Amino acid sequence: MKILLASSEVFPFSKTGGLADMVGALGRALVNAGEEAAIVTPLYRGIQNRFPALRRVDWHFDLPLGAQTVPAELWELARPGEAKIYFIDHPGYFDRAGIYQENHLSYADNGERFIFFSKCVVNLARYLPWRPEVVHLHDWQAALVPALILQQKRAGWGNAPATCLTIHNLAYQGVFPEEAFALTNLPADFYAPDGVGTEYFGMLNCLKGGIVFADSITTVSPRYAREITTEELGCGLDGVLRQNHAKLTGILNGVDYAEWNTTKNPYLFKTYSHARMAGKAVNKAELQRLVGLPVDEKIPLFGTISRLAEQKGVDIQLGALEEMLNTNIQFVQLGSGSPEYEKGYRELAARFPGKVAVQFGYNEALSHRIEAGCDFFLMPSRFEPCGLNQMYSLRYGTIPIVRATGGLDDSVIDFNENPAKANGVKFYEYTSRALAKAIRKSIAIYEHPDLIRHFRKTAMKADFSWNQTVAEYIHVYQKILS
Ligand code: ADP
Ligand code: GLC
Repeated sequence: MKILLASSEVFPFSKTGGLADMVGALGRALVNAGEEAAIVTPLYRGIQNRFPALRRVDWHFDLPLGAQTVPAELWELARPGEAKIYFIDHPGYFDRAGIYQENHLSYADNGERFIFFSKCVVNLARYLPWRPEVVHLHDWQAALVPALILQQKRAGWGNAPATCLTIHNLAYQGVFPEEAFALTNLPADFYAPDGVGTEYFGMLNCLKGGIVFADSITTVSPRYAREITTEELGCGLDGVLRQNHAKLTGILNGVDYAEWNTTKNPYLFKTYSHARMAGKAVNKAELQRLVGLPVDEKIPLFGTISRLAEQKGVDIQLGALEEMLNTNIQFVQLGSGSPEYEKGYRELAARFPGKVAVQFGYNEALSHRIEAGCDFFLMPSRFEPCGLNQMYSLRYGTIPIVRATGGLDDSVIDFNENPAKANGVKFYEYTSRALAKAIRKSIAIYEHPDLIRHFRKTAMKADFSWNQTVAEYIHVYQKILS
């Protein structure tokens, strides 16, 4: 099969969160499974410098965007054993300091930028000599592609590719004022309300357009697939999702163990495995030293890495830590996002010197070191479509403490669910109290060497490799092709 993936982020070229990891790994997994896969993404600032092997393709986009015609260029990078990757080069839209925002403010023209990106995707899908049979779109930034393809089918495009839309996070829908619809150059009937258009409460809703027009919809865990059809977690689109229920599947993300492992990892201070655990203690000591915490093997070290967004449960985490830091524990956090939450963490660090270390900004190396050096990893998310860090934590023998929601519930096993297979600690209520109780349980586990050894071993043996995940995607592609 020939599959073109389209995403606004792809690791290792651009990344703000798990979307980038997932799409990068899916491309590789499809190639490993013997499929032909390519990826298309914007050419953001800095990519050319970091990847000098990028080559310009003899290709010029000149695409209608409302009343204007907008030009862009195309670059490509062929990588042995990996999906070929195409970059859309429009300096005005993409050569910027951020991907979606600067100084905590979203770019005012995000609608225009990604409607244009979606049009480039359709143009490639239609005219690349390598004719993709399936176009697989990720999140709202590419979600108008199925509608744009349908428009061209109506105008005579025979053999158009089938479309699959993956929702990585229903909370981000790409909602813009009605005027933005003119930029799509779609006929007026595509703006219909209800289940048949891109309109939603008087606004253009890109994700809704994708849900309505894609041949199939997937989301990144089975539990989240169920949750998004409910009013509580449907973010206003639960009705539309219920109408399109027949084409919705939940597929748990895989982990790219070539990147996320403890045995061959340039970022770790020392490698280790479930059979040779000594290296984990070295990583803990070095992490404590690196972030300025007292080096002490006996003190349980809790960590977290996340976008500082409402989704991630920062508010209950701050509350729970406030209470639990009065006991003998340490906490390290890496994150960036809301200035409010950053302030909350800074204040926590100031109140508990020698117990709390906070780091802001994006830091790939430190993220691996936190995963390896901590004893426990906190993910108290309000909702979590899949979540990757809890699965990375498992592989690093770092016990995840998670709220039982979305992919967190699907990937972690609590002692109460299955003592033999337990590899993490789950809590249910979205409150600081419930999280504090889970932290207390974790401390109790830590105090019993046999128990923590058991948890670490089962954690490190859990297998979320892409073989299983990619087979499920291939099944979806086959279904929409027939
Ligand atoms: P989400 O996509 O909702 O942010 P995931 O758990 O799926 O959550 O994926 C988050 C990814 O982003 C992980 O690879 C994590 O290590 C990474 N990440 C998040 N914040 C940072 C940061 N400040 N520095 C480095 N990596 C980060
Ligand atoms: C989104 C979700 C996260 C998921 C990631 C990759 O960013 O918030 O839960 O793991 O996409 O699918």
